[in-house]
Order: sequence, then C-alpha cells, then structure tokens
Amino acid sequence: MSKTPIVDIFNSKFALGSQVTVKGWIRTRRDSKAGISFLNIYDGSCFDPIQAVVPAELENYTSDVLNLSAGCSVAVTGELVESPGKGQQFELQATKVEVHGFVQDPDTYPMSAKRHSIEYMREHAHLRPRTNMFGAVTRVRNCLSHAIHNFFYERGFNWISTPIITGSDCEGAGEMFQVSTLDLENLPRDEQGKIDYKKDFFGKETFLTVSGQLNAETYACALSNVYTFGPTFRAENSNTTRHLAEFWMVEPEIAFADLSDAAQLAEDMLKYVFNAVLTERADDMAFFAERVDKEAITRLQNMVSSEFVRMDYTDAIDILQKCDKTFEYPVEWGVDLQSEHERYLAEEHVGAPIILQNYPKDIKAFYMKLNEDGKTVAAMDVLAPGIGEIIGGSQREEDLAALDKRLEEMGLDKEDYSWYRDLRKYGTVPHAGFGLGFERLVSYVTGVQNIRDVIAFPRAPGTAEF
Ligand code: 4AD
Repeated sequence: MSKTPIVDIFNSKFALGSQVTVKGWIRTRRDSKAGISFLNIYDGSCFDPIQAVVPAELENYTSDVLNLSAGCSVAVTGELVESPGKGQQFELQATKVEVHGFVQDPDTYPMSAKRHSIEYMREHAHLRPRTNMFGAVTRVRNCLSHAIHNFFYERGFNWISTPIITGSDCEGAGEMFQVSTLDLENLPRDEQGKIDYKKDFFGKETFLTVSGQLNAETYACALSNVYTFGPTFRAENSNTTRHLAEFWMVEPEIAFADLSDAAQLAEDMLKYVFNAVLTERADDMAFFAERVDKEAITRLQNMVSSEFVRMDYTDAIDILQKCDKTFEYPVEWGVDLQSEHERYLAEEHVGAPIILQNYPKDIKAFYMKLNEDGKTVAAMDVLAPGIGEIIGGSQREEDLAALDKRLEEMGLDKEDYSWYRDLRKYGTVPHAGFGLGFERLVSYVTGVQNIRDVIAFPRAPGTAEF
C-alpha cells in the first residue's frame, strides 16, 4: 500500500503534474456552491495539511465525500498542481477519494476541528495526538531525541542500555517504586513478621530505576565516554508542572574528566540540540511561537548564541539574600534552592542559562566528589530561564576512602554498593557526568508549560490512565 508523505510534497520531491496518493485524516472540509469540495488532510509527517480539491464528478462524491468530517481517514489520489490559494504552494486535484473510516457521530467526536483547552486534551490522551499541538510536540520531541543521539555519536560516545529494574537507589532519596511479584494474598514473612522480599523473583528487593548513572559509570570506567537514554521513575509526591513519576533521562558519563568538563559537555549538547530543532522543525516551532509562547524561537536562538554563566552556589545564595525580591522559601547557605530561586537567578538576575556549581554536600547525593573545603561537593545544576533546573550532574568521588566515608555518613550500607566501590578499587579514574530530564527539555523548547503535555501518556500521582 504505497503512499506519499505530505512532507515530501512540500519538500518538492515530486514534480508538478505527478500522480500521488496521500493517506491521512481530514482536518476540515469545505464545499463550494460550484460543486467542489476542499479537503484539508494531515498525515503527521509535517505541520501543514495539504488541500485536496475534489470535483463533484467523482462517483462517490455525494455518498462519501459530502459525509467527510474531521477525523475521517482517507486515501486521496490526484495530480499535484500549483495552488492558487494564499499560504500554500501545492494542492491535489483529486481523481479518487477512498474512505477508510468515517467518524461515527461527528457531533460528539472529542477532537472536532475547534480549539480545545490543554486540560481537555489531557483528559483525552489517546486522541490528542490528532491535534496540531500534539503533532508538533511529538515531532519536536522526536527531533530532540535524534539530535541527542547524533551529538553523542559524532563525539564517539557509546550508548549503554542500563537496567530499568535495579537493586540500588542511585540518588539515595528513597523515592523508588518497588517491583514485586509477591502473592499479595499470601505474603511470605520472616521471623519478625516482616515481608521477606528474598522470597521474591529476584531473591532481593528490587525497584524501578531512578537513574542509570551508577551502571553508566561502570562502562565509562572502561569505554571512556558513554551515555544512557531511557525511562526513569520517581515515587515522589510532587504534583507540579515540572515533575513526572515516569520520565526519560539522558545521562552521559565521561572518564578522565572533572566538573568543568561535564559543564562544557552540557552546554555544547544543549546548543547542538537547540540548533537542530531550529533548523529541522521550523514549521512546528513557528506554531509554538504563534500559539503557545511568543518567545519560543528567540529563546532558543539566544541560548545558542550566549555563553552559559558559571556561578558558585555560595555566590548565588549571596545574590538571593541581597536582592529585593521576597521569596516564599527563605534563603540561607545550606538550603536546597527552590524553583522560585532558580528562576530568579536565571531569568531576572542573569537573563541567561546558569551552570550553578559546588553545592553544600549535605543536600547532595553520596557519590559526588568532596571539594577541598570539606563543605561542598563538585555538583552542578543547569538552570534555564523560564523553567529552572533541567540538568543535574557532578564529578564523582573516585577515592575509595572518601566514598566509604560518605556512604557511612549517609547511613548507606557499603555492601549494597560493593560493585560500585570496585570501580574505585581497580584502576580508579576521575570521572563526571550529568542527567538531563528529557521532558523538561521538551517543555523548555516548545514553551508548553506543563510537563504532562510533552509526554504521550503522563504518569503522576493519581494519574496512570491509558
Ligand atoms: O538531579 P537528578 O536527580 O540527577 C540524577 O538523577 C543524576 N543521577 C544524574 C546524573 O548525574 N547522571 O535528575 C536529573 C534531571 C533533573 O535535572 C531534571 O531535569 C530531571 O532529571 N528530573 C525530572 N524530570 C521530570 N520529573 C521528575 N520527577 C524529575 N526529577 C528529575
């Protein structure tokens, strides 16, 4: 069943006069008094639909064409001609219209051609891919993920598929979903009456991973430059526009590298993917700039041309304390920065992306390298104007004694991390890396405010439909 993607027509892969068959769905139908119908057809291959001009002479004109409404699936064959209409270069002079599926009861079709609120679309997550908005989000997301893979491939990184089911809590925050195959009716109990997870499938407690980092480190300590790109899970009860319980994370890990190497990699990667989306998805970005956020394009252009500002956590605290803004959460050295603080720094104080570095050790994970001051660790967050943190990373503690001390201080069992400690025992090497929250990136690029609207089927507290 051959078909011509609409994008190929708009990219002039077919000469005027060619016979083509477009297969897609009706967005709108308009009938002229002269007995001609105009069908707007989309197939998802690009933002714009193509117009098919259908003459009343077609044998199924009255029976089929005049019954077409938004959402009907069709195959339209015809000659490619120059369009006399404004804003469109080509149209199809239809010689055949084949209907694959009508929309039953068009009056109640949930994705009718009128504009729907984003909340309404979220409630119809199985049908929202049909809207302009979600078509555009999907293509931009696809472009970004390819650009990420291309960026690392061009630099010789190996992509590592790290496990989704894991026994270790990378972030040590205890925000993990437990994986269990236990029979809930007959839970096995130990002598103290506690559930005996060792009787489960894996012979130990297992969870959905919060990050592939620890596994990625094992490969960086052999192949030098690697990255993971996969789903991660957080059982944090954060009902915000920036948090998901299931999100995708990009995590490069580089050997013989320190914090500033990781920061430079983060800046280069972001600029690379912003450039890609500006050139490859200009149609969708124009839509976001017109309908969602008028800064969508200029923000990315500014990011590409500006130097990311490096700033120490300690200096950031000083700036926040001295500024005349009142924050909901008070600021003092040692606190974790809230979104309001991050936004102030990136949007109002600097007006450019910031790489904030050297955080207090007590608010960061066990694996981060302790700085010489004994108080801070070589950690970084990339704060983007308009969204706050999109990247978190660090130089890793490569010294076994220092790592063991941190594990102990944080009440973590050394035995649970024995394989991770082996990396420090056998040919240890300075290494660093970061994690980019992929949906935060898509949200930033498109200007779509709620992270639940940049992933196909969002998972959040109380939300696991579809
Ligand atoms: O700062 P985080 O927790 O860092 C890590 O997981 C490290 N192991 C990464 C590494 O160094 N390899 O998370 C990294 C990024 C955040 O900056 C944010 O963009 C995103 O992941 N993120 C979330 N995105 C959506 N929903 C959530 N609940 C998120 N939690 C973190």
